[in-house]
Amino acid sequence: MVLSVVRAASMVEYRSADYVTYLCNIFADDDTFQDAARVWGEEEIQHGRALAKWARLADPSFDFDGAFADFRANYELDLDAEKSIRGTRTAELLSRCMVEIGTSSFYSSIHDAVEEPVLKQVCTLIARDEFGHYGLFRRHMERYLTQEKLGIWSRIRIMVGRTLETSDDELAYAYHAANRLPEPYNRRAASEAYATRALSLYRPVHIKKGVIMAFKALGLSREGWWQDAIATAVYRIMQWRSRKVPQTPA
Ligand SMILES: [Fe+2]
Ligand SMILES: [Fe+2]
Repeated sequence: MVLSVVRAASMVEYRSADYVTYLCNIFADDDTFQDAARVWGEEEIQHGRALAKWARLADPSFDFDGAFADFRANYELDLDAEKSIRGTRTAELLSRCMVEIGTSSFYSSIHDAVEEPVLKQVCTLIARDEFGHYGLFRRHMERYLTQEKLGIWSRIRIMVGRTLETSDDELAYAYHAANRLPEPYNRRAASEAYATRALSLYRPVHIKKGVIMAFKALGLSREGWWQDAIATAVYRIMQWRSRKVPQTPA
């Protein structure tokens, strides 16, 4: 079960060079951020390599190169964009924070769910990097926030919107390509197959940590009962979603 999720994650991580291109276009006049984005991209590519290597050791029939070529050819990114698809630079960076919150809790949850020592170690190191990436994007977001003045409700809207996108086409296609699901590509089936396997790995502690990080990204660092309430609600939704779908191949 974990193997199919790791295969899909290796695809998305390895594709980060495309996101570096996108981010450097969006922040064309910001050399400091561009340098940071390039280092970030290298680390994400390393994550992809490490996960692919583990997946191949676990299953030598895994054809990473073939699956990645399929993923890249059939899930396209708009690399020529000159303006963030999120509207503003602050919004772009906040979205990146949400992705890093998602990845740091994802690898922490795999670490806590598996017994296999090599995968455990790989996930420890990757989760640590993802936490650092969150801090990186948050620092740059705070810098832009003073210039762009994006209000708290707009930030909450962006944050929730980006969180809901985790069921989008990118992960679904990565899962489809990495696990050789039956052709033609069925987005809903692939997305549900991924959710069934990935969401069941999480424990309440991972969600609570993610909620605290999200509040901090919003500039709301004071802890309170509402964070527990939100974490509990999110965890229940994730559990419901991981159970409601039928099992599909791979
Ligand atoms: Fe990563
Ligand atoms: Fe990351």
